[in-house]
Amino acid sequence: MSKVVYILNGPNLNLLGKREPEIYGHQTLDDVNEMCAALAAELGLEIIFRQSNAEHDLIDWVQEAREAAQAIIINPAAYSHTSIGILDALSACQFPVLEVHVSNIHKREAFRHFSYVSQRADAVIAGCGVEGYLLALRRAATLLDNA
Ligand code: DQA
Repeated sequence: MSKVVYILNGPNLNLLGKREPEIYGHQTLDDVNEMCAALAAELGLEIIFRQSNAEHDLIDWVQEAREAAQAIIINPAAYSHTSIGILDALSACQFPVLEVHVSNIHKREAFRHFSYVSQRADAVIAGCGVEGYLLALRRAATLLDNA
């Protein structure tokens, strides 16, 4: 049975490709989903890809993944910088957690430099554009192969 990776996306990422393209690029979240699905098939992984603007949805999905998945890739977007709730949910998971940011949060405003989620993440990928999701998926495959 293939291993399952949840790919969770936080607020405003539904606007990927439309908002601030000079920062986030031109690819949409549907494009990212398709790219991830294609790579996951190559890697023999199953992905569950979701987005919500609501913090509680992300927490519920992390809790769901805790039972149903072997790894989480998460771009918590603005909640990275505010959400102890998402951090706590991720801390309750005993498998790889990979944090992705499309932009390099460390090169931007000071309020983006700190991420609660990074306190739990096994790896953080920032500033690689949407390719960061693919890098995270490859890393998940490596960690799961060795598990
Ligand atoms: C983001 C960076 C966050 O600071 C921001 O709030 C986002 C997207 C990124 O992917 O670069 O919405 O997580």
